[in-house]
Amino acid sequence: MTVPRHVAIIMDGNGRWASRRGLPRSAGHKAGLKPVRTCIELCRRLGIPYLTLFAFSSENWSRPVTEVGFLMNLFIETIERELDDLAQQSVEVRFIGDRAALGAPIVERIVAAEARAVPDAQLRLTIAIAYGGRWDIVQAVRGLATDVAEGHLAADEISEAELAKRLGLGSLPDPDLFIRTGGEKRISNFLLWNLAYSELWFSDRLWPEFSADDFAEAVADFSGRERRFGGVPSVERT
Ligand code: IPE
Ligand code: IPE
Ligand code: MG
Repeated sequence: MTVPRHVAIIMDGNGRWASRRGLPRSAGHKAGLKPVRTCIELCRRLGIPYLTLFAFSSENWSRPVTEVGFLMNLFIETIERELDDLAQQSVEVRFIGDRAALGAPIVERIVAAEARAVPDAQLRLTIAIAYGGRWDIVQAVRGLATDVAEGHLAADEISEAELAKRLGLGSLPDPDLFIRTGGEKRISNFLLWNLAYSELWFSDRLWPEFSADDFAEAVADFSGRERRFGGVPSVERT
């Protein structure tokens, strides 16, 4: 079976999961931690080396301040609590997103988590917080402009590769498989550049209920797809 090297997930449906149970939305966000663990475990088992999760978008700042506050505290607590376990499981953690928009307590945890050395990590887990695909492209372009202005790069040396390496995901391979739970069929400003040729998988399952079987089903479907990247099927080459 061809497994993807890089899976990117929009973890959506926490609020609806909670509302259907008569619970506050925050209960849904809390319940969303379990499928995160499940997906990490499955990536390790299947030999998938890169997992990228969308935890909080640049548009999510428009949510009620209580929900935003709850999420930030949940991120802080979770990073602190899980870091040792993750390192033990050979998982290294990175974050992408606009740190200038985040408060000092969470930035401190992010910096500490990224400083944790995990030699020969089996899995790189990237968590997108305060992340927007357009923001990411703009900050990469700003980096290019600065390098040109300072004479480190000529304008005609600007290329896809030069832009891509300044994006949040940097030198990581593009996601092979994109998963969105919660039934909506949109990208919601996730990795706009990096998803150019990803295979897309939409699940109606609400994120807190996304199981190992659901993840395995998405990977199995991926393995049966023919990726042509604009070319022609290899059997039809003459
Ligand atoms: C995704 O679940 C989690 C975040 C955006 C933080 P939602 O909170 O968007 O859940 P629904 O879509 O309202 O059900
Ligand atoms: C996308 O979900 C962001 C995250 C899962 C972190 P949203 O629920 O915010 O997206 P929309 O509002 O359905 O586009
Ligand atoms: Mg949502």
